[in-house]
Amino acid sequence: MAKANNDPITIKFAHVVAEHTPKGQGALLFKKLAEERLPGKVKVEVYPNSSLFGDGKELEALLLNEVQLLAPAPAKLDKFTKKLQVFDLMFLFDDAAAAERFQKSEKALALLSTMEDKGLKGLAYWSNGMRQFTSNKPLREPRDARGMKFRVQPSYIWDEQYVALRAVPRKMAFAELYQGLQTGVVNASDNPWSNIFSQRHYEVQKYVTEANLTMGNYVLLTNTKFWNGLPDDVRHELDEIVVEVTDAVNKQAEQLNREDKQRIVESNTVEVITLTPEQRSHWREAVQPAWKKFEAEIGIDLIKAAQAANNP
Ligand code: LMR
Repeated sequence: MAKANNDPITIKFAHVVAEHTPKGQGALLFKKLAEERLPGKVKVEVYPNSSLFGDGKELEALLLNEVQLLAPAPAKLDKFTKKLQVFDLMFLFDDAAAAERFQKSEKALALLSTMEDKGLKGLAYWSNGMRQFTSNKPLREPRDARGMKFRVQPSYIWDEQYVALRAVPRKMAFAELYQGLQTGVVNASDNPWSNIFSQRHYEVQKYVTEANLTMGNYVLLTNTKFWNGLPDDVRHELDEIVVEVTDAVNKQAEQLNREDKQRIVESNTVEVITLTPEQRSHWREAVQPAWKKFEAEIGIDLIKAAQAANNP
């Protein structure tokens, strides 16, 4: 229905994770600040846990302006740009600090606008800490992954990296992962500590391997036409709020994930394995054939710029 002149602009923010996660808290903070600073002009509705749109449906809904804000992982944008998948190259970043240095770089920030002609406008990178393996068998060396049925995010780069590990990748929506692990459709996955805890994956797995395989980050994403069509004063205020919320999300991500890791350790339901630097180098070596396959479409210059963030 068309908006009457004095109705507030409704911004629907949909995401797939629990509220008590960096992204969940970020969405609520965005709502709080937008409604406080633009009273009567903007109303924000937050839909967590795939309650409005989940994997596979959310991007189509954004393009149709049925939702106005998402924050998907880069892997979920591979149909719109291959370059953001630099974040999905396993074991490229040594740690979260390196990934965040790259996120703040000009080369990384330039990627946010590469989908605008396709209707999607990246506003910021939100962090959720490094992704870890969960599994029903202990994972210490690459050979341990052979034959394991890994749930993967819907992107070919994740498929190919697990194929390089001689595992069996299975694309699955995030909302279906708990049941997939519980029923054995898949017997391994990867996610940040906050998702492993908040989605209770640790209850249906025997091991968590702290591998820090990639940065579990997100692209805060809007519909280009919607955002550029906002009244100038509203858009300028929302742009400032995005900067403030992004800073808050990225500052609290490390602490939230550290706390959730501790809760998982204290649950005594899984064995937590931490890879040594030497073991991480073996995994990085094992996925090189997959990296090579995507070097051309990601861009070797971008990959080298990301790697440079490991040694500032
Ligand atoms: C996943 O699908 O594993 C994650 O990207 C979900 C999320 O948004 O953290």
